[in-house]
Amino acid sequence: MCGIVGYIGYRDAYPIVIKGLERLEYRGYDSAGVALYDGEELHICKTKGKVSDLKDKVEKDIPTKGSLGIGHTRWATHGVPNDVNSHPHQSNSGDIVLIHNGIIENYASIKQELTKRGYSFYSDTDTEVLANLIQEVMKIEKVKLGKAVQIALKQVVGAYAIAVFDRRKPDEIVVARLGSPLAIGIGKNEYFVGSDASPFIEYTSNAIYLEDEEMAIIRIGRDVKVRSINDDEQLDANIQELQLSLEQIEKKGYDHFMLKEIYEQPSAILDTFRGRLLPNEGIIKMSGIEDNLSKFLNANRIVIVACGTSWHAGLVAEYLFEDLARIPVEVEYASEFRYRNPVIKRDDVVIAISQSGETADTLAAIKLAKSMGAFVFGVCNVVGSSIARETNAGAYTHAGPEIGVASTKAFTTQITVLTLIALRLANAKGTLSTSDYKKCLFDLEAIPRRVEEVLDVNDQIVKIAENYSDVANCLYLGRKYNFPVALEGALKLKEISYIHAEGYPAAEMKHGPIALIDEQMPVVVIATKKGNYEKIVSNIQEIKSRRGRIIAVVTQGDTMIKEMADYAIEIPETVEFLTPLIATIPLQLLSYHIAVMRGCNVDQPRNLAKSVTVE
Ligand code: F6R
Repeated sequence: MCGIVGYIGYRDAYPIVIKGLERLEYRGYDSAGVALYDGEELHICKTKGKVSDLKDKVEKDIPTKGSLGIGHTRWATHGVPNDVNSHPHQSNSGDIVLIHNGIIENYASIKQELTKRGYSFYSDTDTEVLANLIQEVMKIEKVKLGKAVQIALKQVVGAYAIAVFDRRKPDEIVVARLGSPLAIGIGKNEYFVGSDASPFIEYTSNAIYLEDEEMAIIRIGRDVKVRSINDDEQLDANIQELQLSLEQIEKKGYDHFMLKEIYEQPSAILDTFRGRLLPNEGIIKMSGIEDNLSKFLNANRIVIVACGTSWHAGLVAEYLFEDLARIPVEVEYASEFRYRNPVIKRDDVVIAISQSGETADTLAAIKLAKSMGAFVFGVCNVVGSSIARETNAGAYTHAGPEIGVASTKAFTTQITVLTLIALRLANAKGTLSTSDYKKCLFDLEAIPRRVEEVLDVNDQIVKIAENYSDVANCLYLGRKYNFPVALEGALKLKEISYIHAEGYPAAEMKHGPIALIDEQMPVVVIATKKGNYEKIVSNIQEIKSRRGRIIAVVTQGDTMIKEMADYAIEIPETVEFLTPLIATIPLQLLSYHIAVMRGCNVDQPRNLAKSVTVE
């Protein structure tokens, strides 16, 4: 979590740094700060609140000239969000200026030692400890900043992406990473730093993505020097061409990124298909699968690890792999898997799903599975992310940047990739006949058009939202493929509107949640024709007879449920295993409109961050 930005070159740093922070605000937004060196003096400005609050404060309080600057947008770990705990932090001498994304786990012991040596601490953060440790190393070892950062980091346990400079030598920024992402943009006589490439996308398309345990010395007039933190080895700087465009990260006239991303789903799914789904030829072509087909076909079982929405995509995949390819699947929360001493064998295939590719628990679960001999396959959206690099093979979702904190197009494109894999495996195993397989490919190909059609329910959903924006609780029910959809619908509502919501398998309702149902309780039931329809009709009757308020998602042309429900949202018909790709869309829109009506910050819900790089 937290976003970091830096600039050193010939332009004014401030506009680049502040714009970069706005683009990285999805990573954390409880406080923000900048440090700018104007050629003679250092100016630091920080504040609790959003980047817009910082902007107001900077423009009132400090000069914004100067061609060296760093900035930070925070998601608090150590110390409450306030002005003092905001980054950048300075060492006691004021010389070392540091921003940090991550957690320094052994900060308390380092702090104790530095306190004994006469250092004072003004904030509650682990970051201020690191700034002082670097100062102390420079003093004791008589080394320059780069070396001091390296020595200090060897003493640190935890995770970090840092950018640091010495105000006495303002032609250099030192950066390092372990467990949190860090990109360096390479311009002509100028360099950029970012937690991802979005802060510098309009200035350069060349970037170095640091690997774990690497650091770089970025000095004006010199090439970037990349080094291993642990063994002092000088490494080749791997300069990559960026695949991100400015247009992709702007709102394009939508009020919120979330709404834009909901509407992007037809094209995002098409991008996921591109070059892979070839129905006329009757094939699916995915190099990550073809190159490792025997591993999947000989797998004892597939274990899926993920968090949050990606975990819900994993649950859909469990149904898909078992139903279509007859391969046993277990779906695990990465955070539980990594700590519960799981049994993993060499013939297990582990699939890790992550939009950001940076989720700390998922990354740790992958490392654990690999250490136990499993083959690990990644399904990620962010190209070049840590998870994409750590896995043995993988498939990108190609959804494009997802900026809204609540996942929407990432979820549907994850399901799309997982569907392609399940179908390909079903075809290779012969669990689907050739003609059924070919038909499935055409059904899948039609999904972007179906999603386009569902988006037409938006106006109806605005009206429904008007009647439900003041509720305190909400229950979501579904069966089979629609059960993970219910979980995802509930998560979307709670995370952006702060309404308590729970998803349940519809039949489980009578084992507990039914006690909650009265005339105050809205129940969203995903009741499509092919998802155990008669059974779900009975569940709806059970709710009705207890005076629950029913919003049903039904298949176009349904009459029975329409009569029972307070509202029925019609979605186009498709084959059962593809229903999640369509049924999810109205639930995303419902949460979105309810959250907007409640005045919530849809793109940046409280306490959340887009990329969860802490455990
Ligand atoms: C919810 C949401 C989160 C993420 C979770 C995992 O809308 O976005 O629950 O799904 O933090 O993130 P990734 O997929 O980046 O590993």
